Amino acid sequence: MAHRNTDIIPTIEGLAYGGDYNPEQWPREVWDEDVRLMREAGVNLVSVNIFAWAGINPGPGEWDFTRLDAIMDLLAAGGVKADLATSTASPPPWFSQAHPETLPVNPEGIRLNSGARAEYCPHAPVFQAAVVDMATRLAERYADHPALAMWHVGNEYYRSCTCDHAADAFRAWLQDRYGDLDGLNAAWGTTFWSQTYSDWTQVLPPRICAETPNPGLVLDFRRFSSDALLALFRSEAAAIEQHSPDKPITTNAMVTGNFSGLDYHRWGEHMTGPNRLVATDHYLLPDDPIGWPEQAAFGADASRGLAAGDPWLLMEQSSNSSAWRRGYFAKKPGDLLRHSLSYVARGSEGAMFFQWRASRYGAERYHSAMVPHGGTDSKVFREVKQFGAWLKDLAEIKGSTVDSRAAILLDFISCWAANTPGQPSADMDTYPELRRWHAALWRRGVTTDLANPEWDLSGYEYVFAPHLYLLDDDANLRAYVENGGTLVVGPYSGIVDANDRVHPGLPGALGGLMGVRVEEFVPIPNGDKASLENGWEGETWSEVTHATDAETVVSFKDYPETGAVFRRRLGRGEVWYLATRLADLDPFLAELGIASDLPEGLELVRRSHEHGPSYTFAINHGKDPAPVPATGRNLLTGAAWTEEDTLEPGGCAVIRRE
Ligand code: GAL
Ligand code: ZN
Repeated sequence: MAHRNTDIIPTIEGLAYGGDYNPEQWPREVWDEDVRLMREAGVNLVSVNIFAWAGINPGPGEWDFTRLDAIMDLLAAGGVKADLATSTASPPPWFSQAHPETLPVNPEGIRLNSGARAEYCPHAPVFQAAVVDMATRLAERYADHPALAMWHVGNEYYRSCTCDHAADAFRAWLQDRYGDLDGLNAAWGTTFWSQTYSDWTQVLPPRICAETPNPGLVLDFRRFSSDALLALFRSEAAAIEQHSPDKPITTNAMVTGNFSGLDYHRWGEHMTGPNRLVATDHYLLPDDPIGWPEQAAFGADASRGLAAGDPWLLMEQSSNSSAWRRGYFAKKPGDLLRHSLSYVARGSEGAMFFQWRASRYGAERYHSAMVPHGGTDSKVFREVKQFGAWLKDLAEIKGSTVDSRAAILLDFISCWAANTPGQPSADMDTYPELRRWHAALWRRGVTTDLANPEWDLSGYEYVFAPHLYLLDDDANLRAYVENGGTLVVGPYSGIVDANDRVHPGLPGALGGLMGVRVEEFVPIPNGDKASLENGWEGETWSEVTHATDAETVVSFKDYPETGAVFRRRLGRGEVWYLATRLADLDPFLAELGIASDLPEGLELVRRSHEHGPSYTFAINHGKDPAPVPATGRNLLTGAAWTEEDTLEPGGCAVIRRE
């Protein structure tokens, strides 16, 4: 990273703290109470105007900034900064009525109605022009407002559309990528099922059709949709920059769940660098087979990956339950503190919530907030204040980086491809597998980056590719190994190329590097297990795999001629291949030499300044007091910390090495 921007929101002192603030839902007298409570809670940044298009622009050609002026002035007077949104995530009903072609069309060909949010087609020229107009007006008006800290473009981009505008734009994108129809036909393998195109107008977005669509088409449409939204974001950002060149610009990426959204690593290139800021939203999924602490850590580590070394900000999380779950799930006392601190430990330059005050009405009226329906005499508000106080005590960590010695490879496109229909096993899903490896390393106190397979990996002692289904070639990974790295590859990796075409000679892209040949896939259904010679077990997946230029470390019990774990030394490093999903990762990690002496449930992460102090973040999610291997001062209490001190169950400490 040539330039590392260590002060991501220069007008904010210390770390950022706050949430989405929607005063338009409340009478004026509540606003004053809001600001008073924000100050009490240590809030210094709020996201405003996210869903307020209808207020600013109530009809065609009508503009009214009175209310937004009042909100911005209120914040300025109260000493709270604004993350000012462009409001383009939700065009109002009048806009959809005046421009019905901007309403999105779903794959069934149904044009969606207005009545919720995000009702727009990213490819409709009228919408594209409207958002640039909106961003321009806001930037002109508020560029020099004393409350302005940063710009928030749109909100959680995700919308895709399959209308005729989309079809035109998709064809243009494909022409750019493949040149001519011969290129496209070859890339998608359209000789299969007689799908050969003879004219560009025959190429359609993935609208519903009789049977399984062409996987290459589906994958390219997702790439195209991600690029189209990125272009929309960039068009607003460019408009803002013209009038407000000195304030950071962001939008919030979604890192919750299984990465079905955008190719955020590609987005990251446009979200980092001067006056850009990576922001993410992470909501804990309650029915997690692994656990919340591990899930929060994974969301944070994925976010850090989007920023690729630059600082980033957790823009949204929930103080308690989210409204979009089935049923309400309450967080336990202290969860808010522990989750929020985990994000900060892992690089977030503060912690933000959706939202400041719980809404009385609307689809999210039961979504938790910093000020809950239950009022300020509540567990939630007390913890909100507590965390605000902690962030003040932690101000000096701003700009420090997270120490990590291992990476788990994440490629969004590969995740999408692995989920296309027609796979040999529907259970070879990437997200749960990455989570499993991440959690096993978390339990050993290994902080992992979630890195793209094409990035520079040379700084990592270990690189894990638990499920890298799609990979064009091995060049980057080979260089990593030859230069001394340890690469661990999980099964069913390197199988297809960028167009989801099976590489010849399995495991295509990686067989040469790993020195193995896969003869046959043998999925393991129904929760059954495959036994390995050394007592280990495999689940979900196995293969008939032979060493061609590798050592067979462990074989399958029932098929001794078939390797299950392989190792190849290459150059100064080594590569391991697992031809099954090991049911228990711990013995394998021990075999790799990754020690486990951490007390159960203790989360340990270190941040450090390039030329300054380092900080050990300790969060005890376990049931017993835990020793923390650090000495110095606990910034959360101000007291000295020695190796004899233990952290109580549920407790947190941030120890600066003195
Ligand atoms: C986010 C969204 C917010 C709010 C929140 C509720 O996805 O950006 O506007 O809806 O979810 O969890
Ligand atoms: Zn459309």
